[in-house]
Amino acid sequence: MQRALVVALLSLAVALLSLLTALFAAFAPDLPSETARASERATRARADEATLLDHMVLMQRYVEKAALASDAGNWPLTAFYAQKIDERAARVVDGGYVVDGIDMSAIAAEVANPRAAALAEAAASGDSARFRAAYETMVDGCNTCHRRAGYGLIQIQRPDAARYPSQAFGD
Ligand code: HEC
Repeated sequence: MQRALVVALLSLAVALLSLLTALFAAFAPDLPSETARASERATRARADEATLLDHMVLMQRYVEKAALASDAGNWPLTAFYAQKIDERAARVVDGGYVVDGIDMSAIAAEVANPRAAALAEAAASGDSARFRAAYETMVDGCNTCHRRAGYGLIQIQRPDAARYPSQAFGD
């Protein structure tokens, strides 16, 4: 009886040892690659932030120029810039950007993409009241994302007196 107990305990010890060995074999080689993955993620997050910022610089430029062109009553030019905003918004959605753990692309799909499409349609219609309303909604989309992303300090507004001295906006 005692012998049987010793044998049972020994088998249990051997089984535990095999389990530990198996666990070590399964997880130990993963340690360095986990570190590599973490650094890869950090690099990608920095790249994401940089590319997203490039989109933002252009977004602001196009949004501003769309307003200036519409103020000048130049609908083909307004439509050109509205189209650029629409394309840019689509690239933010497609980019899969995650910044500080926040899924920017998901927010863009919700508050930028549909509004940019509506802006492009309004510009193409040449209806200035419709464009003005769509423009306000678009700018609200910009600011909604900034707030949700923790960048509420960046507040976009429709330009009133601003001009690009190097570009004519009338036809
Ligand atoms: C999906 C979210 C999102 C949307 C939509 C969005 N932004 Fe941004 N924007 C950001 C984030 C995040 C930053 C900060 C990026 C950083 O610094 O890493 C930013 C920064 C900016 C900046 C500061 C950088 C600079 O060049 O001065 C401007 C300007 C800007 N956005 C303009 C706009 C405009 C204009 C729109 C709308 C047409 C817009 N954004 C829509 C997320 C968004």
